[in-house]
Amino acid sequence: MSDKSRRLRVAIDGPAGAGKSTVAREVSKRLKLKYLDTGAMYRAITLKVHREKIDLANLETLKEMLDRTTVQIGNDKKVFLDGEDVTEEIRMSHVNDLVSPVSCISLVRKRLVAMQQAIANESDRIIMEGRDIGSRVMPDAEFKFYLDASLEERARRRNKEQLEKKINLSLDEVAAEIKRRDEIDSGRADSPLTRVEDAVLVDTTAMSFDEVVDSIIRKITEQLH
Ligand code: DC
Repeated sequence: MSDKSRRLRVAIDGPAGAGKSTVAREVSKRLKLKYLDTGAMYRAITLKVHREKIDLANLETLKEMLDRTTVQIGNDKKVFLDGEDVTEEIRMSHVNDLVSPVSCISLVRKRLVAMQQAIANESDRIIMEGRDIGSRVMPDAEFKFYLDASLEERARRRNKEQLEKKINLSLDEVAAEIKRRDEIDSGRADSPLTRVEDAVLVDTTAMSFDEVVDSIIRKITEQLH
């Protein structure tokens, strides 16, 4: 049995491009927490749906695929689909375009949430980021944050990241993609993106990366001491 008094589980939710991954990774380093990017798991499953051209309306085929699929996430942010390193490919536009529709399917969510909860149960010190971490995956997390920023700012940051990776999309295209994903992620029936009441809202629009990380760490350490 784990010593519950030593638990430090941090949930970070928010829309696409709010900086959840980079912030969560830095907080995990500074506070020595295990880090889990749950979006990467949805992306890996989506890549397989894309490769096998699975019809999302055909739940039998989808279930059969899920039964023979493994997704593993290393603490070094590498993502493996059936043992293959797909870290780069899951960020590409063929995955971006399909990931929100795939994430709406309860069958997919059930599998991934169970995996995420198993990982959380194994670890007393973890930071997990996604859309439903505070509401569904770790509703009893000690700390919950909701990271947000204006659509323009999120598109600008995502665009910068993509240009560094030599993905050439215009700012308008990036903004449209993010907006479309937000609408699907917030509008779906099964555990939509929402800010739970006990999550601290961090509007990062006018904040630097360091300011966001510091504000989260301050909030956690203040309450721990
Ligand atoms: O965080 P991200 O942009 O890599 O996530 C990709 C998609 O995965 C996102 O648009 C919706 C889905 N997702 C989800 O439904 N639930 C999560 N906990 C994490 C991601």
